Amino acid sequence: MAIMKLDISTTSDEFQRNRQAYEARIADLQARRAAATIGGPERARRLHKERKQLLPRERITALLDPGSPFLEFCQLAGEGLHDGVPPGGSIITGVGIVSGRACMIIANDATVKGGTYYGITCKKHVRAQRFAWQHRLPCITLVQSGGANLPDQPNIFPDEGQFGSIFYNQIRMSAEGIPQIAVVHGPSTAGGAYIPALCDETVIVRNQGAMFLGGPQLVYAATKEEVGVEALGGGEMHSRISGVTDHLAESDSHAIAITRDIVARLGDVPEQKWSISSPLPPRADPAEIYGLISADPKVPTNNRDVIARIVDDSEFHEFKPLYGETLITGFGRIMGFEIGILCNNGVLFSECALKATHFIDLCCKRKIPLLFMADVTGFMVGREAEEGGIAKNGAKMITAMASANVPKYTLIIGNAYGAGYLSMCGRAFRPNAMMMWPNGRSAIMGPDQAANTLAMVKDETHKREGTSWTESEREAYRAPVREEFEGFANAYNFARNTWCDMVIDPLETRNVMALLLDLAGRLPQKHTDFGVLRM
Ligand code: COA
Repeated sequence: MAIMKLDISTTSDEFQRNRQAYEARIADLQARRAAATIGGPERARRLHKERKQLLPRERITALLDPGSPFLEFCQLAGEGLHDGVPPGGSIITGVGIVSGRACMIIANDATVKGGTYYGITCKKHVRAQRFAWQHRLPCITLVQSGGANLPDQPNIFPDEGQFGSIFYNQIRMSAEGIPQIAVVHGPSTAGGAYIPALCDETVIVRNQGAMFLGGPQLVYAATKEEVGVEALGGGEMHSRISGVTDHLAESDSHAIAITRDIVARLGDVPEQKWSISSPLPPRADPAEIYGLISADPKVPTNNRDVIARIVDDSEFHEFKPLYGETLITGFGRIMGFEIGILCNNGVLFSECALKATHFIDLCCKRKIPLLFMADVTGFMVGREAEEGGIAKNGAKMITAMASANVPKYTLIIGNAYGAGYLSMCGRAFRPNAMMMWPNGRSAIMGPDQAANTLAMVKDETHKREGTSWTESEREAYRAPVREEFEGFANAYNFARNTWCDMVIDPLETRNVMALLLDLAGRLPQKHTDFGVLRM
C-alpha cells in the first residue's frame, strides 16, 4: 500500500485565493452548459411543442434507461461561432444506456436552424461516430434535419471529416456489425434523409417524420410536380410504398419505445473484461483540487497533490519517483479500474521522456489503460538538453505513446503547450477521449513566448533592412499577439472547435473516467508493436 502524502494547508491565503478563482470558473462552466441545454430560440421550441413533438433532450431522456447517466460529447461545440446558434452546434451527441446496452446517441436539434448541419455540426457528428466505432457502440440517430446549412458549404461538402464522412462511417460501422439505427422524427431533407436511409433499421413517426432528397418546393422548381410533404416522404408512404423505413410509430414516444425494443434485440451485451475492485473515494477530499490549482498560470501546481485527490483511496504505486522527477508515472485505480498515470510536474527533460517510454511499455505489456494528465510548457531547450539527446528521447516518448494499443485518455489539467501537449497524447494521437479542466490551456507556445518570438523575428527584419522600432512600438506589436494566444489557448476555444471532447469540473473526473473505462474494458485487448525507438 502506497498512500500518498495528503497534508496540505487549506487555510493559507494562496489556497483560499485559488479556491475562490476556481469556484468562479465552475460557475462559468455551469452557465455555458445551461445555455447549451436550452436549444434554439423560444419561438422555435414553442412551434416544436405545438406540433406535439418532444424536444431533442426529451427524446434522449425517454430513450435512456431511467436513472442512467448520459456522457455528453462536445456539448459546447460551435459556441459563439455562428449568429443565432447556441453552444452545441444544432446537434446533441453522447453515450447512454439503452435497454441495458451502451449506445452512442446522436440527436439533431431542429429548434436550431431547422437542425441543419454547419461544418461544426459535421465535425461533432463525425467525432461521435469515431468514438462509437472505436468502442463498438451501436449508433442511434434521432433525425430531424434540413440537411446541409447551405451557406456553410465549404465546411460541409468537399472534404473528409465533413458530411460525406458521416455516411462513410455509418456504412463501414454497419459492415463491421456495429448497429446503425435511426428514428425520423420530423422533416429530414437531403443529407438528413440519407442518414436514416443508410441505417440498418429505421423508425418513422406518422404525420411528423418525413424524408426526401428534395422537399416539395424543390421538386416543384425542378419538375413542376405539385406534391405535399406526406405524399412525397411521409411515414405512411415510406413504410407502405417505398420501403425506406421499417417501423411506423404513432408519436415520438412510440418511436422511442420501438427503438428501445430494437436495441433490446441486438444480442449479448459485451462483458467487462477487466477485474474491477470496489471503488474507494480518495482519502483526501477531491474538492481541495480547487484550492491546489494555481490561479496564476505562471505559478506551477504541485500535481502530486492533485493525483492524491483523483485515485481511489489516494493509493498510488509510483514508478521511478527519483528519476525524471518532473514527470510523475505510476499505477492507481479510479472507481475500481486500474490505470497507468503519466502526469507532468514541470518541464520535460530527457530522463522524463525515457521514463515515460519505459512506463508506457509496461502498461502495454500488462494491458493497463493510460491516463495522460497534461500540465507542461514543453520539452527542455538549450545546448545541454540537445547534447543529451532530448530530440531522440522525446521522439521515443512520442513513439511509445502513439504506438500504445491500450485505451488512452488525455486530461489537460493546466498548461499544455507545443510538443509537450503532443507528447502527452494530444488530439492528433487519437486518445479514446480528451478532456480539459476549465483552467486547461493549450497552444503551440505560451502567449508571452509567442509574442516574444514574433517580436524577435521582426527585430531581425529591422536589422536586415537597416530600420528600427521603439520599445513602445515593440510592445504595441506584442500585445495583440499575446491576446490572440490567450484566447486560442482557452479550454472553451478547444471545446468550441471540438478539439476536445468535454470541459469537465475536476470533481467530475472520477465519474467520467469510470464511464469511459467501462466502455473500453468491454473491447478485445490488443497487442502493441512499437515504431522504431531511436537509441
Ligand atoms: N440552409 C441554411 N439555413 C436553413 C436551411 C438550409 N438548408 N434550412 C433551414 N434553414 C434555416 C431557416 O432559414 C431558418 O432560419 P431562421 O431561424 O434564422 O429564420 C431556420 O433554419 C428554421 O427553418 P424554418 O423553415 O423556419 O423551420 P421549419 O421547422 O418550418 O422547417 C426545414 C425546417 C428544415 C424542414 C425547412 O427549413 C426546409 O425544408 N429547409 C430546406 C432544406 C433543404 O432543402 N436542404 C437542402 C440541403 S442540400
